[in-house]
Amino acid sequence: MIIKTAVFVCSNTKVSALPAPDKPEYAFIGRSNVGKSSLINRLVNQHGLAKTSQRPGKTQLINHFLINESWYIVDLPGYGYAKVSKSSREAWEKFIRNYLTKRESLQCVMVLIDSRHEPQQIDLDFCYWLGECGLPFAIVFTKADKQGAGKTDQNVAKFRKSLSAWFEEIPPVFVTSAEKGEGREELLGFIEEVNKD
Ligand code: GTP
Ligand code: MG
Repeated sequence: MIIKTAVFVCSNTKVSALPAPDKPEYAFIGRSNVGKSSLINRLVNQHGLAKTSQRPGKTQLINHFLINESWYIVDLPGYGYAKVSKSSREAWEKFIRNYLTKRESLQCVMVLIDSRHEPQQIDLDFCYWLGECGLPFAIVFTKADKQGAGKTDQNVAKFRKSLSAWFEEIPPVFVTSAEKGEGREELLGFIEEVNKD
């Protein structure tokens, strides 16, 4: 897919204030600092469109970006940041789960996983929850440039195995690097196919 335009539309804390659900939408979610905002910038090749940071917890709102005037990328706040209070964590859960389960134009949830780590319970739990809700999702491994391909493959295989205990069919899996651009074409190709349906 060729990206002609990518424009920031709005940031929100309320599902009721989101743009009209009249275009297909893809939400990027995962642990804090996993590389959601960086990957979005790489997909659209626009450095600085989504705000990134070395510190976890940078993205705090539901951010809509309109792509090619026809579909949305949504950058979400990360989960699993140890330094947030229990009440903030509960507020996050409520707000994000509300968005994910109520947003009728949501086509697929992109669950980002750090390719450097072995499967983490918090990520598996999130995938199980998506499955229980019947929400379509894809697994997107990030930061593949940070180690050799062999290590990435090992972690991907372990994650698949963990998921196979719960899911008859493993969702689509992508390996990406925001730094090097690996996986960009594949991910955009996937979105293009879903948009056609
Ligand atoms: P929150 O909004 O805080 O949840 O974080 P995020 O998931 O949006 O992560 P962000 O894109 O802000 O990136 C976090 C850090 O990881 C930044 O320092 C990025 O430069 C770095 N990073 C992200 N993706 C990659 C990647 O593919 N390769 C490398 N080497 N670094 C990356
Ligand atoms: Mg972010």
